[in-house]
Amino acid sequence: MNVTHLECAACGLRHEAQLLHNLCAQCGKPLLVRYDLPRATRTLTKESLRTRPADLWRYREVLPVEHDENIVSLGEGWTPLLHAPRLGERVGISELYIKDESLNPTQSFKARGMSAAVSMAKELGARRLAVPSAGNAAGALAAYAARAGLDAFIFMPRDTPRANIIECRETGAHVTLIDGLITDCGAEVARRKEAEGWFDVSTLKEPYRVEGKKTLGYELAEQLGWTLPDWIIYPTGGGTGLIGMWKAFDEMEQLGWIDGKRPRMVSVQAAGCAPIVRAFAEGKRFADEFPNAATTASGLRVPRAIGDFLILDAIRASKGTAVAVTDKELIAATREIGAAEGLFVAPEGAACLPALRKLLIEGAVKANERVVLFNTGAGVKYLESYAE
Ligand SMILES: Cc1ncc(COP(=O)(O)O)c(C=O)c1O
Ligand SMILES: [Zn+2]
Repeated sequence: MNVTHLECAACGLRHEAQLLHNLCAQCGKPLLVRYDLPRATRTLTKESLRTRPADLWRYREVLPVEHDENIVSLGEGWTPLLHAPRLGERVGISELYIKDESLNPTQSFKARGMSAAVSMAKELGARRLAVPSAGNAAGALAAYAARAGLDAFIFMPRDTPRANIIECRETGAHVTLIDGLITDCGAEVARRKEAEGWFDVSTLKEPYRVEGKKTLGYELAEQLGWTLPDWIIYPTGGGTGLIGMWKAFDEMEQLGWIDGKRPRMVSVQAAGCAPIVRAFAEGKRFADEFPNAATTASGLRVPRAIGDFLILDAIRASKGTAVAVTDKELIAATREIGAAEGLFVAPEGAACLPALRKLLIEGAVKANERVVLFNTGAGVKYLESYAE
């Protein structure tokens, strides 16, 4: 077994692997999976990766599933890291890249986390999986639960993009729409889960979605020839991708694959829902709930994140920052990216461009630095956000 145990990210309390867990039994914060990395290096080497499948399970030894037959896959991961020269010329950077996560199953990076979480649910015997979602996580859970023969119970705000609602129904999930935000959906799952026998797969309240998402960090390094960029610009809701990448960098250093130099991590949020940006500016380790959260980038409409301190710790440790952009800016950026590079990006992904411009104007990002923007989803799922 490669997993040794689970460890609370806040108080360090050890939890036994191969049991169903949600949050830390002692302090209620997220649990992180720990591996026997020296053992992993016996078979997981840069050379061995050359002949492995083009999906995220190529990093098998640093993923939590014990038995291969429990892996639930639709071909997630190993998405293109595209050099973006035309967009780069417009902003004044030659080494600009876009990690295009819209090519995942269900068209978003949420597939990575749900592939890992549903595989573990299957392995550990959970049959009924419930999730609050801004939209894309719901679509991913519905698909992977169907693929595993498990039941998915999904709670989304009523004004979630239609594509997300329809894809969940058409992949066999039980869908409930709530008049409220993702936090209200989470409260509903928490209130009913015991009576209904649901296992809660809310991000970071379940230890394995972050393991799937961390493969973004492994892929980035592998695709850049085992180097890392100077800057990572990442649209942040719950922050699972950013937290996951930061964990991946630590693991890769322990595996002896990279040195101690880290990218500077930038959290991008919408001005109408920017709890992390505000907490970063105020020097706080935990973020207050953002009141009256509103943005057309539905994945960024997360007023409170349980992993707030992990996001903020990673930003600060990396000498990164947190930037808010307006809906007007992010919607305009969709067409700018689309016309320059041919990608119809999600509004969340588009938000990375105005954030980068702000950092260039401030002089934080230099023209000769290597920058990766994360397009976390597909614009085609958000037709309501765009004028005809
Ligand atoms: C397209 C898209 N981008 C970004 C996010 C935010 O992701 P995270 O929760 O990992 O910060 C979401 C979450 O719903 C999303 O759907
Ligand atoms: Zn704890």
